[in-house]
Amino acid sequence: MIVRIVVSLPVLALFAGTAYAQVAGDAAAGEKVFKQCQVCHTAEPGKNKIGPSLYGVVGRKSGSAEGFNYSPAMKTANIVWTPENLDKYLTDPKAMVPGNKMAFPGLKNPQDRQNVIAYLAQLPKEKK
Ligand code: HEC
Repeated sequence: MIVRIVVSLPVLALFAGTAYAQVAGDAAAGEKVFKQCQVCHTAEPGKNKIGPSLYGVVGRKSGSAEGFNYSPAMKTANIVWTPENLDKYLTDPKAMVPGNKMAFPGLKNPQDRQNVIAYLAQLPKEKK
């Protein structure tokens, strides 16, 4: 019994960390939030519009979607789009990357941000 508790605590802590990073949001709800992004972004690989394709953006380096003409600010921002960084960017895009050309005020609702990040995170798995 004691042994089991000692073993399971770190496992639980690890799981909680992973859960926060990856599935705090609801991807189905996030797909609806993504409608606000679709004026400028697609979720299709390689399809850029006014903004770069967001397919595979989670874990990607900022300014690296192929064939998209980024602003100098985004090109040199040197951010990896982890869920945490996406959350920060989407809260206030101009504050996190000053001078970037995404004309979007941000998502003020934390749950909307988590949901859209969850949606973006599961895209590559969905399409495989
Ligand atoms: C009015 C158009 C517009 C809307 C709406 C918009 N974006 Fe963007 N987004 C852009 C543009 C343009 C860029 C490129 C910025 C640059 O190069 O400075 C960008 C860049 C990004 C990046 C960085 C991508 C990279 O490859 O580095 C992310 C992430 C992003 N947008 C997420 C979102 C999400 C999520 C939404 C919806 C909640 C959204 N955007 C809504 C225009 C938009």
